[in-house]
Amino acid sequence: MNLDQMTPRQIVGELDKYIIGQHDAKRAVAIALRSRYRRKLLPETMRDEVAPKNIILIGPTGVGKTEIARRISRLANTPFVKVEATKYTEVGYVGRDVESMVRDLMAVGVQMTKQDLAEQQKDAVARSVNERLLDLLLPSSNSKEDSTELAMGAQETREKFRKYLEEGRFEDRVVEMSVKNRPAGGSIELLAGGNVEDLQNTLQSLGSMFNGNGKKRKVSIKRAREILTEEEMDRMVDHEQMVELAKERVEQMGIIFIDEIDKIAGSRGAKSGPDVSREGVQRDILPIVEGSKVNTKWGMIDTSHILFIGAGAFHVSKPSDLIPELQGRFPLRVELNELTADDFHRILIEPENAIIKQYIALMNTEEVTLEFDDDALQRISEVAYSVNSSTENIGARRLYTIMEKLLDDISFRATDLTGTTFRVTRQYVDERLMDVLGNEDLSRYIL
Ligand SMILES: Nc1ncnc2c1ncn2[C@@H]1O[C@H](COP(=O)(O)OP(=O)(O)OP(=O)(O)O)[C@@H](O)[C@H]1O
Ligand SMILES: [Mg+2]
Repeated sequence: MNLDQMTPRQIVGELDKYIIGQHDAKRAVAIALRSRYRRKLLPETMRDEVAPKNIILIGPTGVGKTEIARRISRLANTPFVKVEATKYTEVGYVGRDVESMVRDLMAVGVQMTKQDLAEQQKDAVARSVNERLLDLLLPSSNSKEDSTELAMGAQETREKFRKYLEEGRFEDRVVEMSVKNRPAGGSIELLAGGNVEDLQNTLQSLGSMFNGNGKKRKVSIKRAREILTEEEMDRMVDHEQMVELAKERVEQMGIIFIDEIDKIAGSRGAKSGPDVSREGVQRDILPIVEGSKVNTKWGMIDTSHILFIGAGAFHVSKPSDLIPELQGRFPLRVELNELTADDFHRILIEPENAIIKQYIALMNTEEVTLEFDDDALQRISEVAYSVNSSTENIGARRLYTIMEKLLDDISFRATDLTGTTFRVTRQYVDERLMDVLGNEDLSRYIL
């Protein structure tokens, strides 16, 4: 389903499939997404006045902040990037400048749009990819003008190979092909002033003079198909139309998720030290969040209506430690809750990709049937909760460390257990975890 057409309730419903609890956060995100769709329906004069409802998700570690973002991005068709605020440095210093987040988002939008457009001609793409694969498999058969008897035989061979290719019999066969090294984006940006493709074509036809283009590599047919599909997509998709659509999509529907935003909030008014450079990063981010034009290799991108979702634990700093202008640009604040033992129990079993389901599936590949008693799951949840309380609270991540420890022995012996059923009981949980549970220092290291 297209995120654009989803109602807030549907968006929450989708998130519910993967994330337990955190209803307020899901709701806020759903509202923000729907607001953008509503804005698009307004008359133009008004549309420009409506600012996106940027959100800050506040919550301790491991309770689902990033997971919410990750799930939204999978809800399809919306360009999305997740960046870490701490990765950026102030303009003028060595490091990544904040504008790169917009360039990254546009790169995602372009890829997405290219794929959509190619999808419309996927039969044609697949057909010419197949022809090119046949050329690789039969290097001598592609001189078509030749009409000698020999060539007739070659034609037959080609048909036979075509059939095999379509049946997937050649997937692992290795062929030699020339793999184009894409010239670095940065230099093109400067030279091409927008019309990247023309320049790229020129560079490519200059061939090996540049960056060793056209280097021969040995690859499997499977890999060759991926490479050629990418090339054919590039060739068949109308580049200008694609960039136009991608730009529209990024500007109107793009989402930038800024993780660890609390780490760039320093104590305000600091005159020296790390706080100053953090504030510098905030000042750099500000114009992007407020709406400005960022130069990318596909042209200027207007950031006014990109949705920003910030997230952080805010243990040390508070949202009010962000510079005021930036605070104003994130009007929605939502707190995520600490997870309870009961939440852990649900997280183990309910999500579509639930941890328990993953382990069962993994063991299944060894033909071992893994079963969990419910009171065993209950016990695991209690243990996770209590280890979090007595050592460090790492949220749901604790479940992963505990499950690994719990199933360590079965994982190791799985190949000897083929054809059997293994039942995890409460008693088994206690036995496996007892030694670590009894000793706080030990559990700090093992769980
Ligand atoms: N409410 C939840 N429901 C289901 N799974 C969860 C939930 N909270 C956390 N998880 C799982 O725990 C792991 C860590 O969660 P996540 O990455 O969202 O943490 P976070 O809140 O972003 O923490 P941090 O502040 O450390 O970045 C993920 O694998 C996620 O699937
Ligand atoms: Mg996170």
